[in-house]
Amino acid sequence: MKVAVIGSGYVGTTTAAMLANAGHEVAALDIDKRRTDAINKGKAPFFEAGLSELIGAAIDDGSLTATTSYEEAIPEAEVVFSCVGTPDNPDGSSNLEYVFAAAKEAAPLLKADAIYVQKSTVPAGTGQKLVKELKKHTERNIHYVSNPEFLREGTAIKDTLLFDRVVIGNSKPDVANKVASLYEDVEKHKRAINSIAKLGISAEQLNEHTGSYVLTSLNSAELIKVTSNAFLALKISFANSIAKLADQADADVVEVMDGVGADKRIGRAFLNAGRGYGGGCFPKDVSGLVSSAYEHGVDLNIMTAAQELNSSMPGHIANKVKESFGSLKNKRCAVLGLAFKPGTSDARKSPAVTLANILAHDGSQVSAYDPQAMEEAAPDLRKDIELCDSVDEATSKTDAILVATDWPELKELDLTQVKKTSNADLLVDCMNVFDKQLVEDAGFTYIGVGR
Ligand code: UGA
Repeated sequence: MKVAVIGSGYVGTTTAAMLANAGHEVAALDIDKRRTDAINKGKAPFFEAGLSELIGAAIDDGSLTATTSYEEAIPEAEVVFSCVGTPDNPDGSSNLEYVFAAAKEAAPLLKADAIYVQKSTVPAGTGQKLVKELKKHTERNIHYVSNPEFLREGTAIKDTLLFDRVVIGNSKPDVANKVASLYEDVEKHKRAINSIAKLGISAEQLNEHTGSYVLTSLNSAELIKVTSNAFLALKISFANSIAKLADQADADVVEVMDGVGADKRIGRAFLNAGRGYGGGCFPKDVSGLVSSAYEHGVDLNIMTAAQELNSSMPGHIANKVKESFGSLKNKRCAVLGLAFKPGTSDARKSPAVTLANILAHDGSQVSAYDPQAMEEAAPDLRKDIELCDSVDEATSKTDAILVATDWPELKELDLTQVKKTSNADLLVDCMNVFDKQLVEDAGFTYIGVGR
């Protein structure tokens, strides 16, 4: 099938690379020429494990091309995926400017009976407005489908190959089935894709994988996406509120959540307490959901409580350090890890960055290091924070070490060695990833979140 993918961010580039490696003829479209140039040279425009390999293979066999021109990409396509960004407005609502601009530009070029598939995260009800927008700019018959994306940054290819569900929102079975068939083709090619991407997913995992296809109405599909992210954010915030209680009640939130999560109805995933969630998705999707519910006259105060709790976590951790030292004035703190999660250079709305800023604001001398995110974190860090090139540089001469992102290389630090070179008193385990006893054996006072 001829397919066009508008937007070459995480979602769009992954979608284009997967479909091109599953036997389809794909045109990737982005207004940013640097991105399309990178793709045409066989490279992903950003780092994502396995993606450059898949793009390279597809460029070599001619199944993928990238362009900045709608006129080149759209007219031939039977299916057009819209994967443009939906950032948040200052008031928390979703900014749908790019979603509507893409639809407006593509509409007059779409061939009759083309399927316009929305993968960008949008509030429920947006699709109905986009159908009207498309109709304004073409007289041809166009189908509109909501097909939200669930992949995570850092594991994009793996999440797409081993998907839990593909959600397709359109009430016409032939339209929904045509979109589903594209994913079935990816499933048919999953072994080849795994071997090209060199992800090392075992044959057993691939053979055993069974994902489901969830066919729904347009509005339900849109709501499934934001509800899924909101529920995961809620789980994290719930674990963080219990962590605050565990601190007072002298319990260990890790043990508590291991016990709670062993109940299959609850599940252990996303119950890790720590400095809270960040990134380009959860914060904006939660605020977008709250704001769109408000427009419908529904008060989602359960989610505003989760937002408030999440925002309180970096300050909660800074207070623990303050209490331990009596005051932060002139105390030196090394913040290790600034990305919103490991495996990415993304530091958008990262609680690790907020934590570093609070410590510096409260009078501490802060040094900071991240294996990948220094550049992206720098603009959001206070100017008085010292940016370091290594763990050693950040921790030489410090009073407290705060591990704020659970990077493998930070989790595996040789604590005895770090204690020797830094002479720090405190190790603050902001993601609860260390064995408390090992930290104490290395000579540190241990501070966790709810432990
Ligand atoms: C999230 C969803 O997990 C994806 O399914 C979805 O497709 C994506 O948003 C999106 O809407 O595009 P992502 O933002 O890449 O993916 O990252 P996650 O791995 O979900 O982590 C989000 C944040 O939660 C991170 O800051 C992480 O440190 C934090 N987290 C996660 C916790 O604090 N505790 C946990 O137990 C789990």
